[in-house]
Amino acid sequence: MPTLSNLRSLARSAGLILRQRFHQPHSIRYKGAIDLVTDADLAAEAFLIKQIQDRFPGDQIYTEESDFILGNQNRIWYIDPMDGTVNFSHKLPQFCVSIAYAERGKLCLAVVYDPMKNEMFCAERGKGAFLNFRPIHPSTTSRLSQSLLVTGFPYDVWRTKRNLNYFSRLTRMTQGVRCQGSAALDGCYVAAGRLDGFWELSLKPWDVAAAGLIAQEAGARVTKVNGESDFLSSPVSVLIATPKIHKPLLKAIGMLR
Ligand code: IPD
Ligand code: CA
Ligand code: CA
Repeated sequence: MPTLSNLRSLARSAGLILRQRFHQPHSIRYKGAIDLVTDADLAAEAFLIKQIQDRFPGDQIYTEESDFILGNQNRIWYIDPMDGTVNFSHKLPQFCVSIAYAERGKLCLAVVYDPMKNEMFCAERGKGAFLNFRPIHPSTTSRLSQSLLVTGFPYDVWRTKRNLNYFSRLTRMTQGVRCQGSAALDGCYVAAGRLDGFWELSLKPWDVAAAGLIAQEAGARVTKVNGESDFLSSPVSVLIATPKIHKPLLKAIGMLR
């Protein structure tokens, strides 16, 4: 079985690939109208797949640009080689590498690494969550009216207004709703107490597997937006919040259905 130190070193090396390419011209391919992939996503992903296949042969890998690489279903890696590609392509330094490892259906290890700020969020099930080796915890904010939230919009935002309605309502119920363009960092920022709650309606497992475990281990509540606990099951959505904000946020979103 891999160790947390293995995951940290993989994320650090993949992060270096992204950082080295940040100031260079990027080649961009469009997967959809606003859904894109750069040469840096592909280079970081190719590096991670090769390392995992060499060191942990037979493991299953679920990764954004290659989807499923079939293997032993009891040992699954969830990888987003770059979460925040649109930011990267605009030279906005808010993106990360996200890696989680699950055994027999349970997330065990997770890292989210921001190579521009050199911030390494990580967690191992049952052992707490850390930012650059220091323990992290969610905020103690207890009222929605005093909270600062974050959300994200899926690539079909041009077609559906649902989250724009939630955004509008919650902006009027809180101190503000940020939109930073990296779901993995959004979840980790709640884990570290920088933000009080994060929701997103439509995600993929590789976006939230690592941040979800990190937030849980830090002491945040992590569910889907309908309150169900298995946030990796399809359709994937997420609501991560400091314990006292989770229920009012769930209610505020539920009120709009
Ligand atoms: C995206 C980011 C963004 C979220 C999108 C994701 P990508 O991932 O996490 O914050 O709003 O839903 O798809 O494409 O940059 O890996
Ligand atoms: Ca992503
Ligand atoms: Ca990605």
